[in-house]
Amino acid sequence: MGDMATIRNIVILTGAGISAESGLRTFRAEDGLWEDYPVEQVATPEGFARDPELVQRFYDARRAGVLAAQPNPAHEALARLDREWGGGLLIVTQNIDDLHERAGASRVLHMHGEALSVWCTACDARHRWDGSLLGGPACPACGAASMRPDIVWFGEMPYRMEEIFAALAQADLFVSIGTSGAVYPAAGFVQQAASHGAHTIELNLERSQGSGFFDESRLGPASELVPAWVAEVLGR
Ligand code: APR
Repeated sequence: MGDMATIRNIVILTGAGISAESGLRTFRAEDGLWEDYPVEQVATPEGFARDPELVQRFYDARRAGVLAAQPNPAHEALARLDREWGGGLLIVTQNIDDLHERAGASRVLHMHGEALSVWCTACDARHRWDGSLLGGPACPACGAASMRPDIVWFGEMPYRMEEIFAALAQADLFVSIGTSGAVYPAAGFVQQAASHGAHTIELNLERSQGSGFFDESRLGPASELVPAWVAEVLGR
């Protein structure tokens, strides 16, 4: 851990691994989501155009899973950090669940969208949505039956990248939690932060594809590693 006195601004990147112990499946493990569903069919604009019902069913299932899940000690620890850390903090999550928010964190940025948000392609409005999108329900704003999951699919631009790069440029500490480092641009954030002088730490069940870029790599379940790391950063 770098000299704590010089740590002001922290950027945290989370991935599916932080929600694994809440019962939400990750993508690339042997029982991962992408083993059951070809990415091209359920997580690309082309797949949605080809078979919208398949895609709506896939995200209906994700939405239901998120609503049934509960935050785990890792989410709760980051919420504690959000409450008690006086410096800058941004939790950039690749996850589409709302477990960070339900644990109490507020400085959260969903770069890949959110399972509980839907996007009307007719009027561009976004709505909180807990139910199904099958059968083309009417957009509450414009009435069109044109709503899709508010998810960033492969080939689409992740959300709020300017804000993320600005935070990485100011970061004194960058911590990556529960991500395989397989998907860009998120997988490149560690190098971005390091190039601006940040100390970088990886907290993950196993070494990720980007482990070599980190100053420090701690291996284990997020529910154990994250509370311990937060206690260390807060000095208690
Ligand atoms: N604690 C900590 N880490 C864990 C745990 C756990 N309990 N369980 C799994 N992991 C780790 C795995 O070792 C793996 O490195 O979490 C990582 C999950 O990797 P992926 O399944 O690839 O998920 P993620 O990195 O979030 O994927 C990134 O890819 O498919 C796209 O948009 C999707 O946001 C996703 C992005």
